[in-house]
Amino acid sequence: MLRDLTLNDMEDRYQWCLDKDVTKYLNVPEKYPPFSREETQKWLQMCINRTNGYEQKAIETEDGKHIGWIDLKNIDKHNKNAEIGIAIGDKNYWGKDYGLSAMREMLIWGFIELELNKIWLRVDIDNKKAIKSYKTIGYIEEGILRQDRLRNGEYIDRLRMSILKGEFFN
Ligand SMILES: CC(C)(COP(=O)(O)OP(=O)(O)OC[C@H]1O[C@@H](n2cnc3c(N)ncnc32)[C@H](O)[C@@H]1OP(=O)(O)O)[C@@H](O)C(=O)NCCC(=O)NCCS
Repeated sequence: MLRDLTLNDMEDRYQWCLDKDVTKYLNVPEKYPPFSREETQKWLQMCINRTNGYEQKAIETEDGKHIGWIDLKNIDKHNKNAEIGIAIGDKNYWGKDYGLSAMREMLIWGFIELELNKIWLRVDIDNKKAIKSYKTIGYIEEGILRQDRLRNGEYIDRLRMSILKGEFFN
């Protein structure tokens, strides 16, 4: 399930961001982790107030456990597309279909509520698990973004993928 963020999500988020297995493939600055708790709280507040261009939601299991986050950003209202990002922050919940479920919920929300036509993403070329899960949903490869991310001092290619509203609902 997806729900609105609250400031009570801060500690979980802070802890997840200390976990290098979680942050390895996330496009975050070199100094991250660690963000401080204060910075984490400030970021959540910006998401809640919608002052940073993110539509970010918390991911919960069916019994209400907070396990990650998902967002739409770079929202192009004119051309009706946006970029999606996801992290299951609690590693105990990896590989159990929570990522797929959260992704499906966010796609429905983006296509219906935000009236988007296309949702796209950028994924590190070696993030095999994520790429496989995106293909399972129906994302199509658009192309390789060469040396698109500086990760630990090394330039990494990223794969750009997207899914259209018509493809998803078909
Ligand atoms: C990528 C991520 C969101 C996937 O979420 P998840 O809940 O672990 O994935 P799911 O259980 O929903 O798996 C969906 C599909 O992914 C693939 N997958 C998941 N775990 C896998 C594993 N250990 N090995 C290979 N493929 C795997 C499979 O295709 C699976 O479908 P299947 O069960 O039909 O084979 C999650 O692993 C994560 O948050 N990773 C860290 C942050 C990150 O990389 N974010 C993405 C940045 S672009």
